[in-house]
Amino acid sequence: MQIETVHVPLGDRAYDVRIGAGLLASAGAEVAPLLSRRKVAVLTDETVARHHLPGLEAGLAAAGIETAALALPAGEGTKGWTQLARATEWLLEQRTERDDLVIALGGGVIGDLAGFAAAILRRGVRFVQIPTTLLAQVDSSVGGKTGINTAQGKNLVGAFHQPALVLADIDLLSTLAPRDFLAGYGEVVKYGLLGDAAFFEWLELNGPALAAGDAGLRQYAVRRSVEMKAGIVTRDETEQGERALLNLGHTFAHALEAATGYGDRLLHGEAVAIGCGLAFDLSARLGLCAQELPGRIGAHLQAMGMKSRLSDIPGPLPEAQGLLALMAQDKKVRAGRIRFVLARGIGESFVAEDVPQEAVKALLDEALSARG
Ligand code: GLY
Repeated sequence: MQIETVHVPLGDRAYDVRIGAGLLASAGAEVAPLLSRRKVAVLTDETVARHHLPGLEAGLAAAGIETAALALPAGEGTKGWTQLARATEWLLEQRTERDDLVIALGGGVIGDLAGFAAAILRRGVRFVQIPTTLLAQVDSSVGGKTGINTAQGKNLVGAFHQPALVLADIDLLSTLAPRDFLAGYGEVVKYGLLGDAAFFEWLELNGPALAAGDAGLRQYAVRRSVEMKAGIVTRDETEQGERALLNLGHTFAHALEAATGYGDRLLHGEAVAIGCGLAFDLSARLGLCAQELPGRIGAHLQAMGMKSRLSDIPGPLPEAQGLLALMAQDKKVRAGRIRFVLARGIGESFVAEDVPQEAVKALLDEALSARG
């Protein structure tokens, strides 16, 4: 398969997302046009560094580019003030200048943290995203949301800072554990559900072969997801309206993640997949979409071997009222109203501010009681 390009036309912040196999090896040729001198600083994590840093260094060296790299601890805990300070000071120690380039090599944690470090370093240096997880390739590396978590919550400190280039190397997905791959697939399904019924049908047909490793299918799924995200971000970069549709399933997901401790019990993409199912359940319950749609979505997630219901989450969960309280803390709450992305059909989502809390509570009561 050829390398494909999705352009994100944001004026003087426009950039390309390059998608395909072998991009790590050709990273030097890809980034060279952006460099004012043949030196880059790479931020990564220790796990990704073991798998992919030598490949990136070789790819850059092939174009005569020197690399300095800092590997931070792997995991969500890195996405905070301590490692942000460490990364930013390290970039200064490397004498990273205004015209230099920072490379983020990793999943969502590294992409968000390195992007934010680049945003605040010398009031903004350019950075390149090289996402190494499916979730980062289809979602977090595109669109310029960067930031860290604080004691008060996730992603509450950050900046919009668009990358100068994104290199989504499909080969890197083969080192992911199946569970992490499928968690990222939760975000892929989200794109079909929020805005492209034909893509969802394609996923129903091709999802299992894609998960089993078919590179062509993987490339198509990443490209279609990135095209959709690029379109939405171009129309609404700072989430004044349409970009909120990317939060389909996320109001439920964030509450479930908070309830399960943001850890191994429930990965973000797993929570999003369950949350998308609940958003369609709620839409059906409110008479907005056909009654059979939640079952169809659940059937696809189950066919993929994914968690699809609250009963698939191990360990105790709070009662409906407790989950509602967690939703009320979400940063998407406006003037005390919980916002949901609901749907009139597959691919037909919209933001709803006026969902009756009793309907959400009744849905959660029923879904929780099915846990037995
Ligand atoms: N991940 C949602 C967004 O980028 O807006």
